[in-house]
Amino acid sequence: MKIQNDILRRQFLKHVGQTSPAPQLITVDRAEGVFFYTPEGKRYYDLISGVSVSNVGHGNPAVVEAVCRQARDYMHIMVYGEMVERPQVEYATLIASLLPEPLNSVYFLNSGAEAVEGALKLAKRYTGRTEMISMRRAYHGSTHGAMSMMGFPEGEEWKNAFRPLLPDCKAIEYNNFDNLQQITERTACVLCEPVQGEAGVRLPAEGYLEALRARCTEVGALLIFDEIQTGMGRSGEMFAMLKYGVTPDIVCLAKAFGGGMPLGAFVSSNQIMDTLQSNPVLGHITTFGGHPVCCAAGLAATKFIIENDLVKQVESKGALYQSLLEGHPQVVQIRRSGLLLAVELGQSEKLYRIMDIFIEQGILSDWFLYCDTAFRISPPLTITEEQIADSAQMIINALDCL
Ligand SMILES: Cc1ncc(COP(=O)(O)O)c(C=O)c1O
Repeated sequence: MKIQNDILRRQFLKHVGQTSPAPQLITVDRAEGVFFYTPEGKRYYDLISGVSVSNVGHGNPAVVEAVCRQARDYMHIMVYGEMVERPQVEYATLIASLLPEPLNSVYFLNSGAEAVEGALKLAKRYTGRTEMISMRRAYHGSTHGAMSMMGFPEGEEWKNAFRPLLPDCKAIEYNNFDNLQQITERTACVLCEPVQGEAGVRLPAEGYLEALRARCTEVGALLIFDEIQTGMGRSGEMFAMLKYGVTPDIVCLAKAFGGGMPLGAFVSSNQIMDTLQSNPVLGHITTFGGHPVCCAAGLAATKFIIENDLVKQVESKGALYQSLLEGHPQVVQIRRSGLLLAVELGQSEKLYRIMDIFIEQGILSDWFLYCDTAFRISPPLTITEEQIADSAQMIINALDCL
């Protein structure tokens, strides 16, 4: 077993493209609920959910059953948008019923970055304008367009090596009301995470999203919400926009939206979306976007969330984690939106140390792209109160070692 595992690791390092000099190198054998296991049988609490993907837990029987059934019925038939495929239609209809009016037209894609790309194109096409505004410390994906929207100056670390990127992009400060004046009649769109994820879980200031909405409406710019990380119940509502009562013109979805399969979408009104039909026709094209198996998985996962009232439990589960960890002398602050928590330690050295202790103990956590002083807790929403208490105790044991 050990030899086989060592060979696998060596092949991984040699043949699987690497983007980090120090990958975690934990071999995954199987996963169930909030746990995954190595071939040696070591159990890990998954406190990341594949970065907010596995909201309904690993190996969810409803999702597995839907995937198998759809794979048997049919997989890929034709590029997106040509055929009437039941899983796509049923999922789009369900998502439209969960989003506020007029967000009722769903364009399916394969990933979050692609959803952002499509949304940016749609905003340019609809408004006929070119300027695109994002927020500082925003992360929207790693393709050229999505990367162009990583906020300045923090995003420069990633953007600099890949220029030229998209022209006419600029960033404003999230939660800065004065900066909203930089949104003008030149602006095609403002792209914003209602709760900033990779900034280290930053919540909107009272009235900020309303003011952002009002300014966009005033100057005719489209407001795009990136709910790729906050969507599908993570924030304590099915979508964070419902929590704050602010409706964007376009919303981007991915991650948990596919129930563990690769699926993204941008959703808008029919009026805005229909501009992709002409001048030019086929304004956005994808081969695999809205793959029937991925849509079947997303549909089953979303139905599971609804039927099991998962969203209602999110706030109290998140609050339980917070109450168990708050007050520990190593914890400087906890920032939280539902079951998305950033536990602030104040120093990156402490964070790197605790990550090693977590791995030894059997906990998978992570830090944030723009914040390496806090660790992430974003488990499957199916986590039980007992599992929260148990994993919180393991975290406390690790904090005690710092
Ligand atoms: C808020 C947000 N938007 C977009 C993305 C990009 O999604 P993907 O990795 O599926 O391209 C991410 C991924 O972490 C994200 O957190």
